[in-house]
Order: sequence, then C-alpha cells, then structure tokens
Amino acid sequence: MSLLNKRDKFATNLGVLAATLGSAVGLGNIWKFPYFTGQYGGAAFIIIYLICVVLAGVPVMVSEFIVGRRANSNPVGAFKKLAPGTAWYAIGYSGIAASFLIMLFYTSVAGWVYSYIFRALSGTFINASPEMTIGVFGKLITSNYEPIIWQIIVLIVVSSIIIAGVQKGIERMTKTLMPLLFVLLLLCDIRALTLPGAQMGVEFLFKPDFTKITREVIIIALGLAFFKLSVGMGTMVTYGSYFDKNQNLPGTAVKVALSDILVSMMAGLAIFPAVFAFGFEPDAGPGLLFITIPMVFSKMPLGNILLTIFFLLTAIAATTAMMSLLEVPVAYLVEEKGYSRTKATLTSAATIAILGSTASLSANAGSLLGSIKIFGKTFFDLYDYISSNILMPVGGLFTVIFIVWVLGKANLAAELSNDGQLNNKGVINLFYLIVKYMTPLLIIIIFLNSIGVLKF
Ligand code: TRP
Repeated sequence: MSLLNKRDKFATNLGVLAATLGSAVGLGNIWKFPYFTGQYGGAAFIIIYLICVVLAGVPVMVSEFIVGRRANSNPVGAFKKLAPGTAWYAIGYSGIAASFLIMLFYTSVAGWVYSYIFRALSGTFINASPEMTIGVFGKLITSNYEPIIWQIIVLIVVSSIIIAGVQKGIERMTKTLMPLLFVLLLLCDIRALTLPGAQMGVEFLFKPDFTKITREVIIIALGLAFFKLSVGMGTMVTYGSYFDKNQNLPGTAVKVALSDILVSMMAGLAIFPAVFAFGFEPDAGPGLLFITIPMVFSKMPLGNILLTIFFLLTAIAATTAMMSLLEVPVAYLVEEKGYSRTKATLTSAATIAILGSTASLSANAGSLLGSIKIFGKTFFDLYDYISSNILMPVGGLFTVIFIVWVLGKANLAAELSNDGQLNNKGVINLFYLIVKYMTPLLIIIIFLNSIGVLKF
C-alpha cells in the first residue's frame, strides 16, 4: 500500500492501520514464513522469531514512526532534518539499497504467484498428486524464460499503479480484499487440519525442538522479523510522516505485529498439515507454498476456483507490499534527484528487471544460474541474505541508537504520549528500556554470534 508520494495525512486510524498492514502483509507471510519455518526447524524457529519481533521488530517500527512523524519527510531527508550536518542519513541510503535487493527476488516470487493464478484457473491442479505439483513448480522455475516474463509482468503492473497514481483506489480495494484473504486462509486451515496426518503438521508448528537451533537459524529469525514488518529500511519512517499527532504509535505497531503474526500462523496452519499429510518434505525450500497449497484444494468441491482466488489474493497482497518497496527508491529519486515520477519509476523498474533476472534464473539448483555461488549462496539467496540479515538489522540498530542518543528521552516521551495527551508513562518507560538496551544488545549479540565471534 503506498502513500509515499503524498504529503497529506491518513484520515482515520483505520487508514493508518490498513496502510501499515498493507506493507507488512505479503509474500513474507504466505511464502517466506512457512518456507523458512520448514527449513529451519519448525516451532523452535518460530519462538526465536517471535522474540525478535517483540524485542527488535516492534521497537524499530515505533522508532521509525517517531523519526518520520517528527521530521515529516522521506528517510534520507528525515535524518538530515533531525540531525543536520551529520551522517545519520546514511540509514536512508542503506534502506534504498535494501529495497532494491528485496525487489530483485520479491518480484521473481510474485511472478510465480501470478503464473499460478492462470495455472489454477486452467484446471492444472484438478485431482493433482504430490509428484505432479512438484513437477509443475520445478518446470516453472527451471525454465530459462517463463519466470523472467512473469517477473517483467509483475514490474509492469506495479510500475503502472505507481505512475498512474491510483494508490487511493488500490488502498480501497485492498481494504476489502484482505479480509477475504483471511477468510480463504481460514478455509485452507480447516481443510488442512482435517486431513489425515494433520497432527504432525500442528506439532511441527507448536512443539519446539531446540536442538534444531544453530547460529544460522538465529540470524535468519532476526532477518525475518525485519523483513516481515517492513522495518530497518525507512518504509515506516515514510509512513510515520503521514501520521497525525493523535496517532498512538506504540499501539499501532503492536496491532500491526499481532495481525501480521496471525496471518503468518494461518498460512503455516494451512501448509504444514498438508506437508505431512501428502508426504512432502518440510524443508522443500522456496517451492513449499506452490507444491502444498494446490494439494490442499485439489480434492475440494470447486477446488480450482478457490485455488485461483487464493493465488489472486496472494498476488494482490504481494503487489501492495511491492508498491511500498518500490516507492522507497522512487521517492528518493523524485525528492532528492529531481526526477519526474514516471522517469524515477521506469528507471527503478528497468534496473530491477535487468538485475532481477539473475534471481529468477537462480531460484533452483537446476536453473540456468543455479550453480553459481557467491559467498556460498545463489544470487536469489544472496539478495535476500544481504537485505534481511545485514542491511535491515543494521538499519534498525542505528535507528534505535539514533532515537535514544540523538533525539533523547524527553523527545521520545513527547512523541509516544502525543505531547502529553496519552497517559502512558509505563509504556514509555518500557519502550525506552527496550530500545536503549535490549534491541541493540539483541542485534549485536546475534551478529557477533553469526560471524562466530560469540559462540552459543
Ligand atoms: N513485509 C513485506 C512482506 O512480508 C515485504 C515488504 C514490503 C518489505 N515492504 C517492505 C520488507 C519494506 C522490508 C522493507 O512480504
């Protein structure tokens, strides 16, 4: 959901919540959360992820809101305004880099989702078998051209919306369609939970096995917390700049995080029972969503229609999330470099199309570029790793350091209480304690641990 190009305010609290949720909810919930949970050990991974959401994701979101609402500006401009003559605005540039990197693979996965709308519609998955859904997905991502074509279609759709400036319409549409996605997920859950063997999937999601936690798993959980809530790269600074003085910042962040977790868990509850019921591997990787969900619907009455709607709604959620991503470089190019909106969008989209093909062609070991490894990772994984596990946690770390040490507690208290209107001293003290000590410590410890300096 994108309002980044307008300097007006959200009219209602519901508008604020819907816009922020529109950025947060996307492929992260429906594709990445289940895929990572399956790959990195189930319930134990989820617990660490939730700790990272509470101690890093939510506090960074509130911090970004504070910076944005105070400065009333885009991320680069905001830090320049609040701390003139310093280098804090580098956080804004790191965010622009992160948004590009995310877009490289996000548009690729969104392309798979778009293509599945048509596959489902044409009845591909009626009476599907597990071997067949694996085969269909494998064929798509090892093709040398199909994923790229879909990726370009995705970019055309997202760019057109941004250039046409029809965000308002999209927002209204999203507000009605997202509850529908929720209902459809609920339907998937009921169906998946009544499959024979569903129990194992539920245990996988709720019964932690901490022997599965390695150093890598911890940093991945932190990265997912940032990616999921769209924090650590300035998106929420920009959204904060559209909030008015009566908006309850911590309240909004907590509501967004809770709803976001709910959607992720509902996706997990649709996918993992099916994984075990149909004999898939939980660590099937990026294809997990695409091989299991068609099975969930395959033997249902009107299954192919429901499956089509499922992928359509997922595509819409992905598209609104991408709008908030693409707006970051676009707003920067327009406001700081004087580009026209169209030129800024087309330049960004073309760059993503060209570089993004390397992600599309490396999503699977059998893909054209799938055997090329940089730091032991394919292009696809590398873009994700650098953005989620390095740039965003670092961005978040500096954002909380900024608000504690540059803005200071008095300013924070004024922002959090809306200049004394809210009587929330307890919340302010708790927030201050978390951002001053816990968030930085958590991020630093996880970093040191991931590079092997600290060992636990
Ligand atoms: N949070 C979105 C998701 O889960 C992805 C996303 C949208 C994002 N905007 C972002 C991630 C900004 C990081 C930063 O799908």
